[in-house]
Amino acid sequence: MLFHKIEEVRAKVSDWKKQGLTVGLVPTMGALHAGHLSLIKKAKETCDKVVVSDFVNPIQFGPSEDFDKYPRTLNADEKLCDEAGVDIIFAPSADEMYGEGQRLSNDILTYVCPPFFYVNTLCGKSRTGHFDGVCTVVLKLFNIVQPDYAFFGQKDAQQVIIVRKMVNDLNVPVKIVQCPIVREDSGLALSSRNKYLTDEGKKDALALSSILNNIKSCYNKGIKDVNALKETAYSFLTDKHDMEYLEIVDKNTLEDKKTADDDSIALIACRVEGVRLIDNIYLKEGE
Ligand code: PAF
Repeated sequence: MLFHKIEEVRAKVSDWKKQGLTVGLVPTMGALHAGHLSLIKKAKETCDKVVVSDFVNPIQFGPSEDFDKYPRTLNADEKLCDEAGVDIIFAPSADEMYGEGQRLSNDILTYVCPPFFYVNTLCGKSRTGHFDGVCTVVLKLFNIVQPDYAFFGQKDAQQVIIVRKMVNDLNVPVKIVQCPIVREDSGLALSSRNKYLTDEGKKDALALSSILNNIKSCYNKGIKDVNALKETAYSFLTDKHDMEYLEIVDKNTLEDKKTADDDSIALIACRVEGVRLIDNIYLKEGE
């Protein structure tokens, strides 16, 4: 079922709840790929009913970011969701979600603003306001769908940490489930933005996963000093790579570390052909 209106979703979910069924939400911006399908699969295994939201959220994009050109493939998404047994695709318009508020102004929209420390590190450094926009839309989706569980990909590890923090701080009655990164055979983490890359760019993009895998393997061979681990990245970088950050931090709190340990995560953001790509890896063996 494809719904565009909030009231349609509310009515259907309310029927389900009366029957005692559990509801899972997979929030997406559409352009669905195998990464999203893995979230849907987990949602199907966990819940009686599954809702996928398909909404390119204007308020999480900065003025110079790719909101206008972000891929919009609702027909294909609908087909994939049908095949995957999704019960509702919720694809609202920006007007339906925000009315006037979509004009990115907190004069007219109540925003959810996570603490400075969480939103001004890693991706937040270059994407001012991004996580306020994410948390605002995610809380709206939670209030519209009222899911028992919501499913997010580890690829956006900072996003998951921030959403968990919001849910905890605001007592939102939803369980957050994080699912592993899905990769191409080459190692490239799946992303809707991979569509922007040429074949050559995709090859250059492999540096991200190679850097992370190498850091993990060096850590597991005994190198614990964070600076030494980060320095191992240089041998993978060429003039095709415009590195934004490479950090090793605590996987639960995002706090910086001087010495890596089994609770560490390495995260990278790097532009290839002007496309901003992110990836991450847990350093503990087996994770
Ligand atoms: O991860 C995404 O695709 C988006 O940030 C989300 C969670 C759907 C909110 O718009």
